[in-house]
Amino acid sequence: MSNILAIDTSCDDTSVAVTQCLTVLSNVVASQTQLHQQYGGVFPTVAKQAHLENIDPCIKLSLKRAHLNWDQIDAVAVTQGPGLAPALEIGVEKAKELATKFKKPLIAVNHIEGHLLSILAQPKTKNSYFVFRSSYFPVLSIIVSGGHTEFILVKAIGDYEILGQTVDDAAGECLDKVGRMLDLGYPAGPVIEQFAKLGNPLAFHFPLPMTESQDFNLSYSGLKTHARNLIETLTRIKPLTKQQIYDLSASIQYAVFRHICYKLNKILPSREIQQVWLGGGVAANTTLRRMIRKTIQPIKLQCPHTKKLCADNAAMIGVAGCFKFEKKEFVDPTHFDRQPRLKLT
Ligand code: KG4
Ligand code: ZN
Repeated sequence: MSNILAIDTSCDDTSVAVTQCLTVLSNVVASQTQLHQQYGGVFPTVAKQAHLENIDPCIKLSLKRAHLNWDQIDAVAVTQGPGLAPALEIGVEKAKELATKFKKPLIAVNHIEGHLLSILAQPKTKNSYFVFRSSYFPVLSIIVSGGHTEFILVKAIGDYEILGQTVDDAAGECLDKVGRMLDLGYPAGPVIEQFAKLGNPLAFHFPLPMTESQDFNLSYSGLKTHARNLIETLTRIKPLTKQQIYDLSASIQYAVFRHICYKLNKILPSREIQQVWLGGGVAANTTLRRMIRKTIQPIKLQCPHTKKLCADNAAMIGVAGCFKFEKKEFVDPTHFDRQPRLKLT
């Protein structure tokens, strides 16, 4: 049973976790949301400074919550990329330092593979959340976050094929940008989810993007522009009412998710898919889950067992690291560096 101390500093959350194979013993996340609110997005140098301040306390707390000490840790895993270069640097340098100091093997993890395998993370309780069998392959993984929107065919763990991805903005980024136009704060995705419950998703018409392309790629910049024009037109007459904000939230959310489901409908007949796995920050959204479930039935949808595991966290890096630990896929700390544009395949 391997114990892994995992670190993720890819964006604006400093996270350190301890995992024992697929079981999460601790998963500490120091959020920087408050810090970045004023910028309406993540400010890389501010993120770097906050990671620097948070990383050591997060490591300490993570070990404490796992009731383990360094002698009981078998390896250090860290997100190598993709992500913001200054942010990644803090996690990678710390992981190298720890691996060298405590003489532990170092494992490099791709952040997207972390989101993809977050479905396998198990709670500490004896009842397993989801028993993973290789007969589930091929799996279709859908990653929907603030930086990525991708359809990935998983033939086996470590054997991936990108079937489609956004050609411009990510789904979460689109929600955040429209939320900013509506003054909903940052990140706006969770607020939009709440406001959407009070609104009508059909109140405002949004176009369905990329219907002419036969591929499985997505595009969100058109929806964002459509939202901007719509809000400008509406506010030219008078400020938006509360109900209009709820209706706009419901309508943009529906448009963003409908685009995913439309492409999903094209992918399904093209591959023999046994299961669909959903990961990434936007996967916390219950409307998205419901719409995907409806689209893929009778195929089963698997989501991470808590919403915390949807957003950026180090437990998913530990889970992905566990498979690499078994294969002894280690990296040399003296020749290892962050890769902000790291690809999955
Ligand atoms: O995975 P994540 O924490 O970071 C990235 O790797 O990007 O995802 C953050 C994104 C943000 O765009 C945020 O607005 C969105 O996930 N998000 C949501 C919800 N919770 C987070 N979007 C819609 N509904 C939610 N409940
Ligand atoms: Zn992420």
